[in-house]
Amino acid sequence: MVVGGGGREHAIVSALYRSPQVGKIYCAPGNAGMAGEAECVPLKDTDVAGLRAFALGKGVDLTVVGPEAALAAGIVDAFRAAGLKIFGHTAAATAIESSKEFAKVLMQRYGIPTADYRSFSDYDEALAYVLARPFPAVLKYDGLAAGKGVVIAQDADEARAALKDMLLDETFGKGRVVVEDYLTGPEFSFMCFVDGERVYPMPLAQDHKRAFDGDKGPNTGGMGAYTGLPFITPEDRDFAYREILCRAASAMCREGRPLSGVLYGGLMKTPQGIRVIEFNARFGDPETEVVLPLLESDAYEIFSAVASGEAAPQPRWRDAVTMGVVLASKGYPGKYEKGFPIGGLEHVRTQVCHMGTAVRDGQVVTAGGRVLMVVAEGEDIAAAREKIYAEIARIDCPNLFYRKDIAYQAL
Ligand code: AMP
Ligand code: GLY
Repeated sequence: MVVGGGGREHAIVSALYRSPQVGKIYCAPGNAGMAGEAECVPLKDTDVAGLRAFALGKGVDLTVVGPEAALAAGIVDAFRAAGLKIFGHTAAATAIESSKEFAKVLMQRYGIPTADYRSFSDYDEALAYVLARPFPAVLKYDGLAAGKGVVIAQDADEARAALKDMLLDETFGKGRVVVEDYLTGPEFSFMCFVDGERVYPMPLAQDHKRAFDGDKGPNTGGMGAYTGLPFITPEDRDFAYREILCRAASAMCREGRPLSGVLYGGLMKTPQGIRVIEFNARFGDPETEVVLPLLESDAYEIFSAVASGEAAPQPRWRDAVTMGVVLASKGYPGKYEKGFPIGGLEHVRTQVCHMGTAVRDGQVVTAGGRVLMVVAEGEDIAAAREKIYAEIARIDCPNLFYRKDIAYQAL
């Protein structure tokens, strides 16, 4: 059973579907795009008791968790207590994502390179600190805030407004704020399967967070991604693997919170070297949609080994690159309408991950902000790019938009 219902979960379902060891896949709640590969189960990803009862009732052999909300809600703890095998971190280990302050303290204590910071619960103290330092200021709410908890304030007014939001109005709930140094450089995502001290790296990927071409417009959940990053050298990757991902895995063991799922390093290549921007305790979205298609090994074997705390064979990856472009509802990430029919999907000859779709009277319709992600593989990015935009042209829906410049840094 795969828990979650977006494009990331679609990619996980597809990877498991390729395994000869997997007979039947459930996805809770799943989405319309998975229909051929998995049976969707109408349970919310945070309905821990409902999911556990379902898994016990159906004799589910392995559960793989996508969203952080389910991990933070303790789904892994609850499943393990019931003797169920599950891939994902305990609630205690999920703190590496769910608490910015926990992650910063961990990095400082174990010498993992990241921006210097201070944390505050008092509005006046936070503001005084910010005003005494150069702008821009990076302000991070200390808790899960659905990707909206980070503000890069360009001046005092923006800083005041953001701190008021986070500390006085408690828009995301009662919590602290981390204020950290502003870093510059290209960002990239480094995901690893982690089981305690065992760390199995995946190919690097880069996400595109801004809504429009040229990295303009508001931040989104991600408008596209690709693998095969030209600006990261093998030495950079080795450094990040050893000094960041492996070190974090080992630190979490020493803290008594061993990892047992995916550790996602959101990293930046700054002029001073590679630094951690954030850790996530799960597969990235949309990175997973471009990374997992490259997995040559049996996905079930890796998930199952990590979930059971057994050594897994080193995952093998295809020597190719992938690229994915998100088709989003016009207006996203602001207000948008739903329910527009999506035509032409049957003519697309490459993988399409559904992110926010529904079926109405037998017709696939838009049902979310990010709607589809079209993924293509090539021997290089230029080849993948040519393929993907040709396939997107086959999709017919008046209310979708997409970026035309995904992977521009690699071209
Ligand atoms: P986070 O949720 O921590 O990944 O932050 C969201 C985005 O804010 C990141 O992807 C970066 O683009 C930006 N960001 C976060 N921290 C910093 C920093 N210290 N310096 C510059 N940009 C940052
Ligand atoms: N692509 C960013 C994330 O999954 O958090």
